[in-house]
Amino acid sequence: MAATFCLINQKGGCGKSSTCFHLAGAFAELGLYVLLLDMDPQGSLSQGFLGSEFVESLRSQETISMLFDDNSAFEPRDTLLRATPFDRITICPANHMLARFNLPEPEKTGMQQYAIQEFLTEQSGFDIVLIDCPPNLYRCSWTSMVAADYVLIPVPPEDFGTQGLRAVHQCIEQARQLNPTLRLLGHLITRRDKRLLVHRMYEQKLREMYGEMVMTTAIPEASAFKVALTRRRPVAFHDRRSKAAKLTLCLAREILDRIDMEERKRRIA
Ligand SMILES: Nc1ncnc2c1ncn2[C@@H]1O[C@H](COP(=O)(O)OP(=O)(O)OP(=O)(O)O)[C@@H](O)[C@H]1O
Ligand SMILES: [Mg+2]
Repeated sequence: MAATFCLINQKGGCGKSSTCFHLAGAFAELGLYVLLLDMDPQGSLSQGFLGSEFVESLRSQETISMLFDDNSAFEPRDTLLRATPFDRITICPANHMLARFNLPEPEKTGMQQYAIQEFLTEQSGFDIVLIDCPPNLYRCSWTSMVAADYVLIPVPPEDFGTQGLRAVHQCIEQARQLNPTLRLLGHLITRRDKRLLVHRMYEQKLREMYGEMVMTTAIPEASAFKVALTRRRPVAFHDRRSKAAKLTLCLAREILDRIDMEERKRRIA
């Protein structure tokens, strides 16, 4: 069974897609088979791997939208899985067509709430599933939480970055009513600039408030992430000796350690 993670925060630009993109590379580098689900109508993650023009040209049935589209009910669902230029990384892409399905009040959408969960139970051969969510808590984020084992919350250590965390926590609690196995894996400090006093202060505050629920590894603001993304290569493949690549590998290992601990706790319970 794959371990499934969704990356959620209502805050736009906090690094959800970038983290999915580079982490996929790090997990693949560690020899794991990664499935990426792009649940964001912006399609950033898909464009990162497959290019903007191609992604925008995909028909609804060729994107994750098909899981919500009654007209696609009889389409073969494995056409959704696309190889990327990288061994061990597969993606289910999204584009603007997903926007019409990303409605508020997702808990009122009946069985469609389980659309992603059901799709994932049909998949095999993957060790890790990473789900990139849009900057809101509508249907795309909700169905992802209903399908996931863990939530990772990327947070830039500043005022606007940390606002709205309470709403995310409440939403996780709500989703647990449909998916009791869902756990908060932790908050991931992203885009940190250690030279900024305000970042250092907010990081400390986050670590005081959430303790172990903040990942030890923090992701700095670094041009290596942007450059690798522009070249459409996760940093682990683009420049494996860079600090950015090493940190992303560190994060991947920390995630694996954490889920190992969770598994052990579950077995004892
Ligand atoms: N650690 C980082 N260092 C430098 N640039 C970064 C870093 N993380 C993200 N970025 C850049 O910041 C921008 C926003 O990041 P990203 O798209 O990952 O955020 P997001 O949370 O997915 O945004 P949205 O909420 O719109 O989906 C991108 O241009 C990305 O390349
Ligand atoms: Mg994004």
